[in-house]
Amino acid sequence: MSIPASLQHLRLPIICSPLFIASQPRLVIEQCKAGLVGSFPALNARPATQLADWIDEISETLASAASEPGREYPVAPFAVNQIDHASNPRVDEDMKVCVDRKVPMIISSLRAHKEFIDEVHRYGGVYFHDVINIRHARKAIEAGVDGLILVCAGAGGHAGTMSPFALLSEVREIFDGPIVLAGAISTGSGVLAAIAAGADFAYMGTRWLATPEAVVSDAYRQMIVDSAAADIRYTDYFSGVSGNYLGKSIAAVGMDPDQIPKRDPDKRLDMSEKDTKAKIKPWRDVWSAGQGVGTIHSVQTVREMADQLDHEYHAAAVRTARIAASA
Ligand SMILES: Cc1cc2nc3c(=O)[nH]c(=O)nc-3n(C[C@H](O)[C@H](O)[C@H](O)COP(=O)(O)O)c2cc1C
Repeated sequence: MSIPASLQHLRLPIICSPLFIASQPRLVIEQCKAGLVGSFPALNARPATQLADWIDEISETLASAASEPGREYPVAPFAVNQIDHASNPRVDEDMKVCVDRKVPMIISSLRAHKEFIDEVHRYGGVYFHDVINIRHARKAIEAGVDGLILVCAGAGGHAGTMSPFALLSEVREIFDGPIVLAGAISTGSGVLAAIAAGADFAYMGTRWLATPEAVVSDAYRQMIVDSAAADIRYTDYFSGVSGNYLGKSIAAVGMDPDQIPKRDPDKRLDMSEKDTKAKIKPWRDVWSAGQGVGTIHSVQTVREMADQLDHEYHAAAVRTARIAASA
């Protein structure tokens, strides 16, 4: 299976992942203008009626950017992320908005819905699905997805626990379509490593939190800059699903990041803990990030960061080509 035409002319093989609350039109537009696929979760548009306006704003801005004379690289397409789960009552309506507006790429999480995939294919869009293990990958392939996103150990948000090398190799044996690798990829050399390992694209989330375009507080942005991999805590305590959080943000709500209590398994997806003092909410009060925070040393605009990634990627390509040639 080949790479969909819309994804063949990116500046770098990077899909900027959807970030709850943080990814809104300004961030997505800048990512696409920088030649990288930008994305946002449909749920970030609140109320739901805002989704159509966001898609129109992004589409129109990118269309006029694409016709600017003298562009060095093409404007990349954008994606909308759908959390396809019983806990999301908006998914049908949000998908209808995306289909009506022919959103170039859909990224689904939790469930890959065959009817949605067919609808997206009818207008020529592409449909990728994120998974954390081989069982979920098999189900998504059966449903007919165009591409798989492997969310491996160290990723921001609801991360998996598998080594990227292990999961990528196993999935490659059963799927010859596009594969996106995720988990603590924050540098251009990390992107090249994903490609060298057999992926077609890298998925980067945490890196974009340290941009002025991300909708996060200054304190969150600074905490990303000030944290390293050892500060990240993997727990299901806050949302019922295991994810990676900044230890310093856990301390900031009065909890010991090294003594996070065990969660009652019956309380899955219950966001409001009765036994915590202030009903701590993940994303709002306790902040997520992946282990790739350690190489983020400053806040940079999306454009500056894309230039840096470009430089790092090509420097790594030269270095690895030299090593390979001398082997
Ligand atoms: C703050 C934050 C919010 C996220 N929100 C979402 C989301 O709404 N939907 C989703 O599919 N993934 C979400 N993710 C996960 C990312 O899409 C992606 O899998 C992850 O960021 C990749 O790993 P990295 O952060 O190490 O680059 C989120 C991640 C972070 C850090």
